[in-house]
Amino acid sequence: MAAVTIFGKGNMGQAIGDVFKQGGNQVTYLGHSDAVTDLGDIVVLAVPYPAAISIAKANQAALAHKVVVDITNPLNFDTWDALVVPADSSAAAEIAALLPESKVVKAFNTTFAATLQSRKVGDAQTTVMAASDADDAKAVLADALTDSGVAFVDAGSLKRARELESLGFLQMTLAAKEKIGWTGGFGVMK
Ligand SMILES: NC(=O)c1ccc[n+]([C@@H]2O[C@H](COP(=O)([O-])OP(=O)(O)OC[C@H]3O[C@@H](n4cnc5c(N)ncnc54)[C@H](OP(=O)(O)O)[C@@H]3O)[C@@H](O)[C@H]2O)c1
Repeated sequence: MAAVTIFGKGNMGQAIGDVFKQGGNQVTYLGHSDAVTDLGDIVVLAVPYPAAISIAKANQAALAHKVVVDITNPLNFDTWDALVVPADSSAAAEIAALLPESKVVKAFNTTFAATLQSRKVGDAQTTVMAASDADDAKAVLADALTDSGVAFVDAGSLKRARELESLGFLQMTLAAKEKIGWTGGFGVMK
């Protein structure tokens, strides 16, 4: 069992919290004005990308040695035509650069909130893909999700966050153009 702190109680914060609770973990939430104390071993930034950057900058010491999970899809929401991070980087890499003493993991960005809640994409079990340079952090996350109802796949090093964010970006544009539903998306078959 892990202690999980989630910044943000929106669609994803609640869905991810439910998943961790089913996995037998202890979940607490932090909002805008809450004091950042007593963080769990796993800290999920379930907020928009600019807010995730602000949280990372403001809480470097508190987040040190924690498994920090970046779930953001850093779209340019004015154009819906690009990511706001450099093409050779990712939101997760930008956050990791601000948190050199944390174990940053990219995860949950390729699963819509609805498919986390249902644990299904079509007929397949919802799969959380995770990228990080910290193998122990991915192991902690995988362990916490064991009985959660979602599957877990290690997607490789933090460099793969770029590909996960491209996948999340594409999935969002498909849903926005009503080619797929917000209850659907990409599945992972083993
Ligand atoms: N929705 C999806 O299906 C989906 C899928 C994959 C990834 N994501 C990513 O998940 C993240 C959250 O998306 P969402 O759909 O859950 O958005 P959302 O429903 O709008 O929730 C965002 C939450 O973040 C809170 N928040 C903002 N700044 C904060 C701060 N500094 N401290 C604490 N809380 C803060 C907001 O609170 P207030 O409302 O009070 O401002 C709100 O509760 C985004 O980065 C998104 O790209 C979403």
